[in-house]
Amino acid sequence: MKFFLDTADLTEIEEAAAWGVLAGVTTNPTLYARVGGKLTDFENHIKRICDVVGPECPVSAETVAMTRDQIVADGRRLAALAPNVVVKVPTMVEGLAATRTLADDGIRVNMTLCFTVPQAMLAARSGARYISPFIGRFDDISEDGIAQVAQIAEAVGNYDFTDSTVNGEQIEIIAASIRSANHVTQCALMGADVATVPFGVLKKMVKHPLTTAGIESFLNDWEKVK
Ligand code: G3P
Repeated sequence: MKFFLDTADLTEIEEAAAWGVLAGVTTNPTLYARVGGKLTDFENHIKRICDVVGPECPVSAETVAMTRDQIVADGRRLAALAPNVVVKVPTMVEGLAATRTLADDGIRVNMTLCFTVPQAMLAARSGARYISPFIGRFDDISEDGIAQVAQIAEAVGNYDFTDSTVNGEQIEIIAASIRSANHVTQCALMGADVATVPFGVLKKMVKHPLTTAGIESFLNDWEKVK
């Protein structure tokens, strides 16, 4: 399973990239607003993220357009910012139609706000490169986010879906709206391709009290052999 960082915070991205485990970044309008982002600087900000993570790491930049023509125009502009930009498009009719056009143009799309198997199947058919089912937000309405993502991963995995870009890359499921390290465990057990995690969750993933205690006792004992 690959790890993407779910943030627009450059400091967090720089730090996570330095860990050597980062395979991509996902952003959304909320995450950009959270770092004090302004519309006029949005495209530069996405470029800066792309520079930090390097060309091998996909960086999802979301369009807020609501019509297919506007989504396609946004998508083309965003994709021109850097070769690793992936255009994030909401799961909706206009989004599907726009994704078909963008994917046929060779532009990778991350279809987001996906909550059901039928939505995921449509996203896969539209030529999207990534599908992002949300876990936490499904839990928030007293549904089982993990079970739903597992069903989506299984359903998409039943078919040999590739995106519609020239290279025909295999579609990957990005488990999104992850709120805890336990969500990551469940995603890994179900075989999700990618987990996009907030930096707070990434930091928790590396910790265990027995690891901390073990390091401390090894260091103490090493003092005795000096
Ligand atoms: O990638 C989508 C994700 O950022 C949504 O997370 O916690 O706002 O539901 P959350």
